[in-house]
Amino acid sequence: MPDEKPTLDQEHLPAKLGTEFITTFYRLLKGTTLYDRKSAVIDRLTQECLQVVNGIIQWEGNLLLKIVRDHFFFNNNWIIASADNYLTFKVFWQEMRKRRIGGMEFSEALSGEHLKDLVYLLSGLEENNESNYLSVKEQLEHRNIESIEVGKLELSKDEDISIDSEGLKKYSKEVYFRSIGFVKEVVESIHQQKPLPIRKAKRLMQYAVNAVMKDDSTLLGLVNIKNYDEDTFNHSVNVAIYAIALGQRIGIPKKHLSHLGMAGLFHDMGKTKIPEEILNKTEKLSPEEWSIMRSHPVVGTELIMRMKEWGELSARMMEGAFEHHLRYDLTGYPRLTQKKRITLFGRIVTIADFYDALVRPRVSLRFPYVSEKILGIMLERSGKDFDPAIVKVFINMIGVFPLGTLALLNTHEMGIVTQTQEDTELLDRPKVCLIYYSDGEYRKGKVVDLREMDEVSGDFKRSIVKTLNPNEYNINVAEFFI
Ligand SMILES: [Fe+2]
Ligand SMILES: [Fe+2]
Repeated sequence: MPDEKPTLDQEHLPAKLGTEFITTFYRLLKGTTLYDRKSAVIDRLTQECLQVVNGIIQWEGNLLLKIVRDHFFFNNNWIIASADNYLTFKVFWQEMRKRRIGGMEFSEALSGEHLKDLVYLLSGLEENNESNYLSVKEQLEHRNIESIEVGKLELSKDEDISIDSEGLKKYSKEVYFRSIGFVKEVVESIHQQKPLPIRKAKRLMQYAVNAVMKDDSTLLGLVNIKNYDEDTFNHSVNVAIYAIALGQRIGIPKKHLSHLGMAGLFHDMGKTKIPEEILNKTEKLSPEEWSIMRSHPVVGTELIMRMKEWGELSARMMEGAFEHHLRYDLTGYPRLTQKKRITLFGRIVTIADFYDALVRPRVSLRFPYVSEKILGIMLERSGKDFDPAIVKVFINMIGVFPLGTLALLNTHEMGIVTQTQEDTELLDRPKVCLIYYSDGEYRKGKVVDLREMDEVSGDFKRSIVKTLNPNEYNINVAEFFI
């Protein structure tokens, strides 16, 4: 065995190189949709990618990237995204899948021009065309590029490839509203001391997991729905959705994600036992009222404990109910007599709960905070109230301008952020649905992409100047997602 490579490096090297390749290649591919082949940006991105590619070829002899289902294999090593590059991996995977390209191989060091040829060929492919890989092969042959191979994406039969974005939107909406209906049903069952429809909860959360895994933007848009009368129902469903989306990003396996959703859905179950007068009180609570309010984590845990039919799931759900106000450093409530560590589910539900509680208007909080402010508070309290690593991922997920943000643009237009960019470098350039006023009422205008460039000046056509509070403008953000 040659021993020029240290053991540690040898173990981590494929993951590191594979990640570097995916990151730089994806950036270049994305660049082709925005910039001309001759532009300086493309030159820079090409050089960055080329350096990685040729470095790998020099080191390993060749470079082979293969996509099998939703996994990447780099020179036959399975590589997993870390929290930091999760989004890049996911979007790159979506881009390749759309084009039905299942991998590529470079057998020799490349020139910049050949690399550009490849990315522009890939970039120009039709969506969902099975023979795309053949046309790329032909084009490469035609240009005498022999060192690059591309492969077809093999889809397994059970993979549901036909669901389009409209279909997914519909599906997500259905999951969302059915979940709200379900929470209502649960609350009634508790009041009437009837057994809870547990199978239904599991199924709904599995649907939610499916929707989030395909594309979480619709569900994360729906959480903006304001509902003063049924606040608790929406809140429970929102916490479940944030928890699932967050859990997915930190790599919790699919089968546990639905349990996490359940833990979110039932975290405030104890509130069903708190008198309405206290729950809905807008004035300051008296110390007695506060202590009743603060009993809801324990009451909720007791309710869950009593449901034996939940089996192993009940332990997971108790984590959400019992721990969501406990805080990372255990300074919250209920007070503990013994030190313990907050569970992963508990830490996730805490973050989801805190954010949702502040971002939406409630009886007790007429003007909710704008998202930036809440994320700021969360960052400040990271390590005290919240798990610092998970907060970081959460902030990344919500983004600089999350869905539903009311933005003022440099063109003096106003609009609602309706789609965020998955590319972390373009988080400040979402798609915005413009708003205009007619007869004293606001209307939805066209949707503009803030990545759009002005051809003459070479600058972006529109940029966000600042965010505004939609409630102060009487704008119902949810309308933009339904
Ligand atoms: Fe709570
Ligand atoms: Fe809550």
